[in-house]
Amino acid sequence: MSEAGELPLAVDGLTTAFRVEGRWYDAIRDVSFSVARNETLALVGESGCGKSITALSIMGLVPKANGRITAGRVLLDGRDLVPLDETEMEKIRGNAISMIFQEPMTSLNPVLPIGFQVAEALRYHTALTGEAARARALALLEHVKVPSAARRFDDYPHQFSGGMRQRVMIAIALACSPQIILADEPTTALDVTIQAQVLALLAELKSETGMAMIFITHNLGVVASIADRVAVMYAGDLIEIAPVEELFEHPMHPYTEALLSSIPRVDRDAGDLKPIAGQVPPITAMPSGCRYADRCPLRVPRCATMPPLVGLAVDPNHQVRCWVRAADESVSA
Ligand SMILES: Nc1ncnc2c1ncn2[C@@H]1O[C@H](COP(=O)(O)OP(=O)(O)O)[C@@H](O)[C@H]1O
Ligand SMILES: [Mg+2]
Repeated sequence: MSEAGELPLAVDGLTTAFRVEGRWYDAIRDVSFSVARNETLALVGESGCGKSITALSIMGLVPKANGRITAGRVLLDGRDLVPLDETEMEKIRGNAISMIFQEPMTSLNPVLPIGFQVAEALRYHTALTGEAARARALALLEHVKVPSAARRFDDYPHQFSGGMRQRVMIAIALACSPQIILADEPTTALDVTIQAQVLALLAELKSETGMAMIFITHNLGVVASIADRVAVMYAGDLIEIAPVEELFEHPMHPYTEALLSSIPRVDRDAGDLKPIAGQVPPITAMPSGCRYADRCPLRVPRCATMPPLVGLAVDPNHQVRCWVRAADESVSA
């Protein structure tokens, strides 16, 4: 593992709740992980498992109308962001941490030219103004490989394809040279070829700049090409975390196994794909104990209580939250 000083971001015991019909329910609970410089951590799980809420909690963007962080810390270079007010968080968002969302059309302003929007981000987050901001915006668009960037500088978002719009969003995210990029399903809306190109670009930018990246996806299939480590979430709980190869070769949690066997693979017939039976419970109807127990082929009576996340004795960097599987291995708490 890295030295403490190399850990730009550490999430510790993060719990975020929403009020639904007058009662508070945890959408994520006791989530802990860290990400090192030049490391990509993938956060995976089916839809509704708490991936976006984890990202929004880190960014201080939990919807205020009915949501709040109820416990835990978000340490950026050792400084806890949770107690910061909106003015202080605005200085951090788009500076130390940038976020890329799934649908670039909703994040770009449809009535402003692309180049202007990148220059605007630079004017907001850096000392650059006027021509200097324009020149740097063009360099950024070239950097994210928007073809004929100079000619297309004054085009509007609707004149760009989905993949090109996502490149523009990446350029905006890079405008402030962030330490950390949080990418929430940035390629999910794109077709497979374009998706692969955007993944390659993100990987390239990460190694060039040494930034840390948290890459969120419901598709474990794209993780192998981009992640160094993988954290798997189920129903608001972090249930397994391991280096990427280790996770693919020795998945421990039955949910991770089920996710892996639902990935389409070139070396397997589509007929072998096993969708996971059942559904992620809504936050208003979470079972007590292990939340996966209802869907789990390995369920034992003990699963009625919540298992802890423990490291395997053979590899403490591989942690799993499962009574059955943790007992199979001798584990170190
Ligand atoms: N504003 C909200 N109010 C109430 N519940 C919410 C809100 N936003 C998200 N949730 C719930 O929190 C859980 C986690 O959601 P989310 O983080 O968006 O999942 P994911 O990104 O993994 O698909 C879901 O059950 C979702 O319905
Ligand atoms: Mg999401």
